[in-house]
Amino acid sequence: MKPPEVYQSQFPAQMPRSTNAGGGRRSSLTIASDAFLFFSGAVAALLLVWTFSTFSTPQPHQTPSFGAPVSDPKSSFSVTDDVGCDNRPNLRYDPPDPSFYDDPEFGYTIDKRIENWDEKRKEWLKLHPSLGSGYEERVVVVSGSQSGPCSNPIGDHLLLRFFKNKVDYCRIHGYDIFYNNVLLHPKMHTFWAKIPAVRAAMLAHPEAEWIWWVDSDAAFTDMDFKLPLQRYKNHNFVVHGWPKLIYEKKSWTSLNAGVFLIRNGQWALDFMDVWAGMGPQTPDYEKWGEILRKTCKDKAFPESDDQTGLVYLLLKEKEKWGNKIYVEGEYYFEGYWLEIVETLENITAKYNDVEAGVRRLRRRHGEKVGESYSALWEPYLEGAGYGKFSWRRPFVTHFTGCQPCSGRHNQMYSGQSCWEAMEKVLNFADNQVLRNYGFVHRDLLDSASVSPLPFDYPA
Ligand SMILES: *[C@@H]1O[C@H](CO)[C@@H](O)[C@H](O)[C@H]1NC(C)=O
Repeated sequence: MKPPEVYQSQFPAQMPRSTNAGGGRRSSLTIASDAFLFFSGAVAALLLVWTFSTFSTPQPHQTPSFGAPVSDPKSSFSVTDDVGCDNRPNLRYDPPDPSFYDDPEFGYTIDKRIENWDEKRKEWLKLHPSLGSGYEERVVVVSGSQSGPCSNPIGDHLLLRFFKNKVDYCRIHGYDIFYNNVLLHPKMHTFWAKIPAVRAAMLAHPEAEWIWWVDSDAAFTDMDFKLPLQRYKNHNFVVHGWPKLIYEKKSWTSLNAGVFLIRNGQWALDFMDVWAGMGPQTPDYEKWGEILRKTCKDKAFPESDDQTGLVYLLLKEKEKWGNKIYVEGEYYFEGYWLEIVETLENITAKYNDVEAGVRRLRRRHGEKVGESYSALWEPYLEGAGYGKFSWRRPFVTHFTGCQPCSGRHNQMYSGQSCWEAMEKVLNFADNQVLRNYGFVHRDLLDSASVSPLPFDYPA
């Protein structure tokens, strides 16, 4: 088995495989590529149902009418002691009162069990009141890639563009981002590397309610869309997947572990202890490989992997863990690039059509107030739907199987199709950003040139 890329899911791991795929003694690559066979009719129908099932509006958007002053985002923070008259988070205030950070027993490595994290976090927030208000909505995006150069000659360039895309999304929505370039546990390589990184991010960011892992080969393709956090209020972990494929087919591709949202809390630390317990740093690694393969018969390779591990925990420990895991299937919390890339031109045209008809949507504005325009868009997107077959911009496009850094993409695609699709997807996202800077890539395959946008574009 080829060495998979650090911090990336190595696998197709996206499309629910057709029910009769696999079997026989073929190379693991062939078997893996079976996962890409198109949906069986049943699965397609299932997806259709999910796609069109009701979708409650993410986070009640304010719906300012045109001309009304845009509400001040700062007003959601209450004025507190350590902030004086300026009510933004105070980044220069860390009182001498002891907190968990001062406990010599407290450690960041995964072998140091942490107890009472919820209380410790709460105490810390109390000591930092300017960070305490509004914390429920605070998200830190975490991603990463290997410490050395990519072996694909254009790999580092691609990773740079994927990183830029994440920075763009985070800047627009005021999220912090942590991009990590080193294994925080030397034995937790490949797809296991994210667990110690996410864990460390939780401890470094007690002010954040959510840590959002996004694989280095995934891109935000709707710069306006925000996570519907309200929907997850009773859950601690969110992953993209298809419950029927998890519980009925027991397929290892029934969800994708390349993007997940995890609530900063004791549950998460305990959960990650259990999850990481299947990893290569444990003496049980091989045993877990066997167990996971027995559980998910379609698993294409013998090593224990985080994604099948997650399916296992949903199947076998539903009471203990599964009930707090939200399997998101209604929008592209994470989406398969091959399914998405061909829809981008039509989606662009559709958005342009809508904008051409509504002056306030095409009003030029500062990037900083972009969220108010996203809110204005919502009524016009009501009929668009979400996910597959929708004309709403897909939220996250994930290049599963492409391996931009190593270049060792799944044999089912040509390198060209992967790199071209990445260019298209990254430029599609970039256009949403460049819009506020007055430019556009006219051709999604032309990364190198842009045109200035005329006033009142696209009327
Ligand atoms: C894009 O739109 C055109 C014209 O409506 C249509 O013929 C075509 O099938 C669409 N392409 C995709 C990939 O949806």
